[in-house]
Amino acid sequence: MSSALLSTPVPAVAERLAGVAGSPVRELLALLDRPEVISFAGGLPAPELFDLDGVRAAYDRVLWGPHARRALQYAPSEGDRELRARVAARLTARGLLTSGGDLLVTSGSQQGLSLVATALLDPGATVLVEDPTYLAALQCFQLAGARVVPVPTDEHGMDPDALADALRRERPALVYLVPTFANPTGRTMPSHRRAEVVELTARHGVWLVEDDPYADLRYRGAPVPALAAHPGADDHVVYLGSFSKVAAPGLRLGWLRAPSSLLPALTLAKQAADLHTSTVDQAAAAAWFAAADVESHVLRLCSAYRERRDAMVEALPAALPAGSTWTEPDGGMFVWVRLPGDVDTAELLPAALRHDVAFVPGAAFFAGRPDRATLRLSFTAYGPARLAEGMARLAAALS
Ligand SMILES: Cc1ncc(COP(=O)(O)O)c(C=O)c1O
Repeated sequence: MSSALLSTPVPAVAERLAGVAGSPVRELLALLDRPEVISFAGGLPAPELFDLDGVRAAYDRVLWGPHARRALQYAPSEGDRELRARVAARLTARGLLTSGGDLLVTSGSQQGLSLVATALLDPGATVLVEDPTYLAALQCFQLAGARVVPVPTDEHGMDPDALADALRRERPALVYLVPTFANPTGRTMPSHRRAEVVELTARHGVWLVEDDPYADLRYRGAPVPALAAHPGADDHVVYLGSFSKVAAPGLRLGWLRAPSSLLPALTLAKQAADLHTSTVDQAAAAAWFAAADVESHVLRLCSAYRERRDAMVEALPAALPAGSTWTEPDGGMFVWVRLPGDVDTAELLPAALRHDVAFVPGAAFFAGRPDRATLRLSFTAYGPARLAEGMARLAAALS
């Protein structure tokens, strides 16, 4: 190579990438591609519970049916009409009155977050989040050039008094919550607190983004109405949903439900992002909804995951050092653990990996000062026997 070439300046990437940390979860997933590792790190649905036959039949129906060629064509940005109608009917049955026209189909609910960030956040805008919160939401907001401000959180989620203070002090553009079976903590915000949060954000004229991919996965207790279903939510709450946990994440299908004043801006952001979500995948999802008994499928998932949740929670006292604390979630995929003393769980991970077991160190989930003694465990990917083996390895690694 000539010296002239060696001195060629390297083109720069955009400055807004500078403040965005990589995802330790995705980096871990890459490291863990060894079959002997029992990984409680990724939030992966159990592949053996995918309705493979049903999904295959749905694609067959779409690609052999009279509209097969249309399923391979460009399509409207808002999404497949039948799919939106089915999602709307399910939301309405759960108490969130919705019509297909209130919805925009997204490429996973992760894209819903990106669209929200594009449509609602100017560089320097402030976003209030629970601390800890979903790490890829933090990335999304940081990429948009937003200032992410953590709000104190207890075992019931974001504290409304602290939120009221932060709304007055920070003048945010939006508040982001995962109020049901949160990632990473598994916690659920009770109904009375939801009402307070909806009322406070309405009063301050601030968008409220409710990210709700886990609501269907409830293993005990009664469902709690969505924030978006509370009185006063209609004008300012954006609700994000996903097919990833109920159908399969590889479909990359989600949706958002937004106030009519906001939907055009989000649709514009969607057009600029990818024109529309895959036509054939949307059509197959609609066909799956039409043919499969989705509610029975969800019950099957819940029954399997309940058993796994119980197996993990029962194994925790023996696996963790005395003085540890953990959440016992009513649903979702995650248990959030805090080890006693002044430990950094990132420093314990290599020992766990030597024992062929993995977790996610908690620090990356914090927008504020991280509590390094925390870690996240996901219980959905293995049956009880393998899960018990993983917990025994974790006990050996932490001892
Ligand atoms: C809170 C939260 N929001 C959004 C997502 C993204 O899900 P999707 O697969 O629908 O993009 C996840 C995935 O784990 C999540 O935990």
